[in-house]
Amino acid sequence: MLGPVIVGERVRLVPPKPEMLETFCRWFEDTEVTRYLDNIFPFTLDAEKDWYTNLAKEKTSVFWAVIATDGAEERLIGTTGIHAIHPIHHSASSGNLIGEKSEWGKGYGTEVVRLRTRFAFEELNLHKINTNVYLPNIGSRRVLEKAGYKTVGIAREHIWRNGRYLDVWLAEILRSDWLAAQ
Ligand SMILES: CC(C)(COP(=O)(O)OP(=O)(O)OC[C@H]1O[C@@H](n2cnc3c(N)ncnc32)[C@H](O)[C@@H]1OP(=O)(O)O)[C@@H](O)C(=O)NCCC(=O)NCCS
Repeated sequence: MLGPVIVGERVRLVPPKPEMLETFCRWFEDTEVTRYLDNIFPFTLDAEKDWYTNLAKEKTSVFWAVIATDGAEERLIGTTGIHAIHPIHHSASSGNLIGEKSEWGKGYGTEVVRLRTRFAFEELNLHKINTNVYLPNIGSRRVLEKAGYKTVGIAREHIWRNGRYLDVWLAEILRSDWLAAQ
């Protein structure tokens, strides 16, 4: 599903548009951006177009583009999503990408996860969201902890990346965790 517009203080989550797909392709060609993502292989523009066409049809994911709104000009800086939405368990997984490296460390990721998490509980009526972070990715873990995600455990030496096995932080947020973090 295309995510509906969510307006935050410094970012706006918007449904992705076809003209954004080339930018998504550029981000996924940058190994510094993808080094802690599940997928390290770039996409062709045609593959992105297929993905986009299917996105509107499938009902188990919600996907947004992230627009920074606080500068002189609005900028497309990333994407975020809620995936594998389960109709019985009311669970899902989540992902986050600030693709413009010049925008890292400015607090955008923090606001995006907060907005997305609120939507997950208030609009999708989810009970739990889980995620995982390759542990060198301190920024991602911090963003999630600030939104209320809790540690489930560490999957040791779980991912082979850049010549070594990485531990993975397994985390989740229950509706009650989220309410407590407000
Ligand atoms: C990980 C990512 C989402 C973080 O978003 P961001 O906008 O850069 O993060 P923020 O500016 O909101 O920072 C959040 C916190 O993490 C800290 N942080 C951010 N990057 C960090 C880094 N590289 N090392 C240590 N701490 C970091 C910030 O200091 C801040 O902590 P504080 O609030 O205690 O001061 C973003 O860098 C990104 O998309 N990277 C590439 C893709 C990726 O790894 N996605 C996540 C996959 S699990």
